[in-house]
Amino acid sequence: MGKVLVTGGCGYIGSHTLVDLIENGYECISLDNYLNSDPSVLDQIKEITGKEVHNYPVDLVDKEALSKVFQEEEIEAIIHFAALKAVGESVEKPIVYYRNNIEGQINLMECALQHNVSHFIFSSSCTVYGKAETLPVTEETPIASAESPYGYSKQVCERIIVDSIHNKNMTACLLRYFNPAGAHESLKIGESPINPPQNLVPVITEVGIGNRKELKVFGDDYDTRDGSCIRDYIHVMDLADAHTKALKFLESKQLVEGQAEVFNLGTGKGTTVLEAINSWEEVSGDCLNYSISNRRAGDIPAMFADYTKAKEKLGWDPKRGIREIMATAWGWEKVRNKM
Ligand SMILES: NC(=O)c1ccc[n+]([C@@H]2O[C@H](COP(=O)([O-])OP(=O)(O)OC[C@H]3O[C@@H](n4cnc5c(N)ncnc54)[C@H](O)[C@@H]3O)[C@@H](O)[C@H]2O)c1
Repeated sequence: MGKVLVTGGCGYIGSHTLVDLIENGYECISLDNYLNSDPSVLDQIKEITGKEVHNYPVDLVDKEALSKVFQEEEIEAIIHFAALKAVGESVEKPIVYYRNNIEGQINLMECALQHNVSHFIFSSSCTVYGKAETLPVTEETPIASAESPYGYSKQVCERIIVDSIHNKNMTACLLRYFNPAGAHESLKIGESPINPPQNLVPVITEVGIGNRKELKVFGDDYDTRDGSCIRDYIHVMDLADAHTKALKFLESKQLVEGQAEVFNLGTGKGTTVLEAINSWEEVSGDCLNYSISNRRAGDIPAMFADYTKAKEKLGWDPKRGIREIMATAWGWEKVRNKM
């Protein structure tokens, strides 16, 4: 077995997945240009696993530098996390997002095909479903017209993978994540964004620690159990486990060459914004400073996954819930702030 190339291996989900892959005996290399991460995460991975991971500080858009990595290493599989991911920023800077996410994907795919890489796993997102009308969301739920350049880049990258492996000796998994959150139980790695986070869980912990004034709950008059919006939060270590299982699934040759399979990765259980706040208050023993404000344009009342397909085909079952997510996210926030 050759090596597993993890692009974006220094980022949030990539670093946690590296830990899980190493613990499952895979030899991994990382490729990350530190656009939204810091090389110090590699020391933390070594502390957890005892293994050194080499990172190539290469930009995926730099085809020449990327090609050299494929010449130097024998790569059997790729797990592709490296992308820009802020929905709002993508609306402001669409060209930057398209160049990074789509040109990066094309370069990576071209190298992978030239060097006979066997398996490709892609970080996609539930944003591809847009405002799904029927819940829970299955892999059969129609793809919606993208609402942001970020969402569109995920749809295009999925299509690039499906089209370019057709009739080739490669198999692929397209993993559509719901809302990743939480940190590794050791609290040595977690989410360390360079730009201010926009997702609910890190915003809650930032308010909790005092680095942000308050949390605004956008609407408490939705048709949900407490009036606030419902999302499906998935613990980052359950997500990491799904990548390892997806790789094992591809290695087991259940797919024919040239085939790509889509999987939803969520818990199937939605959590409301107020329940998430309550969960943080329970694990921290503190009160969160939040206020109710008007609904935010574009928000949908509820979104959660049906993950039956991942359970049946990958043997994947998320083990952690919102409490474990909050406990580790809060623990990590305190470590980051040396408290
Ligand atoms: N975190 C989420 O909420 C979420 C949800 C759905 C999908 N995803 C997808 O999962 C993947 C990983 O997300 P994350 O939360 O770990 O993000 P992240 O920003 O923490 O990690 C991405 C990593 O990729 C690197 N990178 C970006 N562009 C690069 C390039 N051109 N060349 C080399 N390295 C580059 C960044 O430096 C960063 O370390 C992304 O593709 C993202 O779109 C994330």
